[in-house]
Amino acid sequence: MQKQNLHYLFSLKQKGEPITVLTAYDYSFAKQVSEAGIEVILVGDSLGMVMQGHQSTVPVTLDDMCYHTRCVAAGNQGSLIVSDLPYMSYANVEQTLKNSAYLMQAGANMVKLEGGAWLAESISQLTERGIPVCAHLGLTPQSVDALGGYKVQGRSQQQADEIVKDAQLLEQAGAQMLVLECIPQELAKKITQSLKVPVIGIGAGKETDGQVLVLQDMLGLNGDFQAKFVRNFMQDHSVSSIQDALKLYRSEIKNKNFPAQEHCFN
Ligand code: KIV
Repeated sequence: MQKQNLHYLFSLKQKGEPITVLTAYDYSFAKQVSEAGIEVILVGDSLGMVMQGHQSTVPVTLDDMCYHTRCVAAGNQGSLIVSDLPYMSYANVEQTLKNSAYLMQAGANMVKLEGGAWLAESISQLTERGIPVCAHLGLTPQSVDALGGYKVQGRSQQQADEIVKDAQLLEQAGAQMLVLECIPQELAKKITQSLKVPVIGIGAGKETDGQVLVLQDMLGLNGDFQAKFVRNFMQDHSVSSIQDALKLYRSEIKNKNFPAQEHCFN
């Protein structure tokens, strides 16, 4: 695949062509994911759950993120690599700059952080220094204890207004991509239409500029539990390999068949 960049992702948004994003955490899967033509690999701190077996992303460290980013960079064949700043590694501006630099040196092309207005100054300083930033709003898993569990966010008018306001503020601060997790699809549509930057959804409906899933979820590797917004692409009759499942994921997003209505919150 041709090397991806942010400029190209913006052009996909303008054309209305959905952007495909998938997590990966190691050399072999990064190679498979990029060979399938997925534009963005997210080295998510979800690795705390699917690679390390924790109950949340809270135990993941910066060293873990740098290690997995290096592994992914080694296997990547041209996808854009976004790496998560893990729990409490961006609590103030100075820490954010220092830790983002470690992720970039490990092979990331962009860093992602979870939270609203309080991140505006950090995002602005990262952007001024040439580090591209992806913001993450809605369900922010690093705050699972404060949120009282993995619940759909933005259901009340007040919460929805706050997410819209945060999204606009973080774009103004310099964020060049936004992940929206587990919010009603009408809210995600409104935010996507109001921003210039690509908006990637997970459990945020059909109307965002792109979709992301956790690799292990879409390969059906997480036992019996399957969240409402997940589809197991290994179960399709046309699929007989992991590469087939990854290519089907890509084509179903590009053709706007995934997510279907059953995967959305209303
Ligand atoms: O860590 C992760 O995998 C993520 C996605 C769920 C968006 O942040």
